[in-house]
Amino acid sequence: MCGIVGYTGVNDALPFLLGGLEKLEYRGYDSAGVYIHTDDGHDMLVKEKGRVKDLEKKVANCKMQGHSGIAHTRWATHGQPSIENAHPHISADGRYYLVHNGVIENYKQLKADYLSDVVFKSQTDTEVAVQLVGKFADAGMDTLSAFRKMINLLNDDSSYAFLLIDAKTPSLLYTAKCKSPLLVGVSRTANVVTSDAMAVLNLTKDFIELRDGEIAVISKESVELYDVAGQRSTRQPFHLDIDPAAVDKGTYPFFMLKEIDEQAIVARNLIEHYFVNGLPQIDEKILSAIKQADRLYIVAAGTSYHAALIGRRFFEKWAGIPTEAHIASEFAYDHPLISKKPFFVFISQSGETADSIQVLDFIKKEHYPSLTLANVMNSTLTREADFALPILAGPEIAVASTKAYMAQILTQVILAAALAGGHDQLQAELSRLAIDLQTVIDGQDKIKELADTYLVHADRAFYIGRAADADVTLEAALKLKEISYTLVEGFAAGELKHGTISLIEQNTPVIALISQSKTAGLTRSNLEETMARGAKAMTIVTKNLASSDDDIILPALNGEMEMFGPILEAVPIQLLAYYTSLGRKLDVDHPRNLAKSVTVQ
Ligand code: AGP
Repeated sequence: MCGIVGYTGVNDALPFLLGGLEKLEYRGYDSAGVYIHTDDGHDMLVKEKGRVKDLEKKVANCKMQGHSGIAHTRWATHGQPSIENAHPHISADGRYYLVHNGVIENYKQLKADYLSDVVFKSQTDTEVAVQLVGKFADAGMDTLSAFRKMINLLNDDSSYAFLLIDAKTPSLLYTAKCKSPLLVGVSRTANVVTSDAMAVLNLTKDFIELRDGEIAVISKESVELYDVAGQRSTRQPFHLDIDPAAVDKGTYPFFMLKEIDEQAIVARNLIEHYFVNGLPQIDEKILSAIKQADRLYIVAAGTSYHAALIGRRFFEKWAGIPTEAHIASEFAYDHPLISKKPFFVFISQSGETADSIQVLDFIKKEHYPSLTLANVMNSTLTREADFALPILAGPEIAVASTKAYMAQILTQVILAAALAGGHDQLQAELSRLAIDLQTVIDGQDKIKELADTYLVHADRAFYIGRAADADVTLEAALKLKEISYTLVEGFAAGELKHGTISLIEQNTPVIALISQSKTAGLTRSNLEETMARGAKAMTIVTKNLASSDDDIILPALNGEMEMFGPILEAVPIQLLAYYTSLGRKLDVDHPRNLAKSVTVQ
């Protein structure tokens, strides 16, 4: 969603800020803006609707040389995408410039209570924040006090990451956060602020992470931290061990393809990290906390929820723990009866999904134990849960999640095995699976052909499957929907006759996922029924259940290995979505209206 970059240092701020915004593009946005206090004393504010490159074109005509500034990509929540609503916003007297991620839930009330005499230039909730700072400063407060007073007026439901510049002291950046991520990057030549480390890795990998309610005042030489009570506090920066090349597309046309291709490597990395002497190793404290539970509740959103559906089966079958998977945004406001000794597992790529954080806040109040499995460690969900485990997918940039989904499933498999004890063949099985994943990835030319023939020109499609394959149909449908804008449904094949089959017309693509021996025949019959009504049928089948006329044949998974069917199926469903989007000449990595990390509810 929205992205923040700020710079104060010895070099020219503009290239750094624009470069940072480019790195934040993957998060999803619809307008962008930048403010620089120039060396010759001018306040330069440029905003544009659309992409960062549109902002860059506009900026090219401006003289914006200066050593400090702030920049933002906005994903509209209050007010449509427009130049007026883009950040930074300015106080009425033109003294303060502010960017904001999050939502100020009580902005209407604040506007009525404090700002009835102010003429607003935008429809945003954010403008209220900067107008309040201006108002309090006008009344005689120093900037830090005015900033703090504004923050203290925000209600508990609000979330924010703020970055403010006072044009009277432009080399200082004021920043604060609550429920929205924010990092201060430190270096010899400059200090910077960002909502996402990716944006500033070319300058530094050393970060101070702001805690909720803290304020930082940053100059090029120093970072002053103030805790919630306004007391000075200190914290050592942490070093983010990340290779900037990992956030580069290299020779790939899109990040999504690169990330799909990396999945066998992700599997190997997980094996290397989690296995010692051939056995899965998970912190004993985590295992013992989970073993005390009478039920596991896995809570997640979107693709991560789909990974939970797959993981659930392993916790039940291997570890013998009754397990439920829940959609975070639903659980937050409408949860089922919770068992006597629940244990909560949160699954997230970003670790910053507002819906999941809302549930974590709730279960912490109830003193229920929790574990987060996330790709971004040091994120809110990993920090706030009792325990955290990394899924080690490496930076995932494309909005459509692929390798993180794979890593989330595999991490659950490893955790379930560790809980169960035994499973001394798992390392070998996962190593074999990594080879199989590579085989499927290498066969992608065929998958591209099928996408071109079946999906690129279709306006709707259906995925069907039974048992574990039914779970995968949900992710298959989501992937295809989000990047190709096709209307797709994924559901249990047995449900066709209970309604959906009426949608089948001549040439409607119906794709069957078949990796479960018990239900393979039934799914095939259901597919036949759609063909009898004109459907253009495609099959994705594991070799042991395949016949020569199947379309995508995955490596065989015999006996117990069958449980890994959803893992192999992940690759063709991702590639079908990728090549459909590509065939339609869409922006695969940046689907419309979507954000990588959904930090508002
Ligand atoms: C899927 O491709 C999406 N990117 C989306 O569904 C995502 O999985 C969801 O928003 C949850 O995000 P998280 O894993 O960062 O919590």
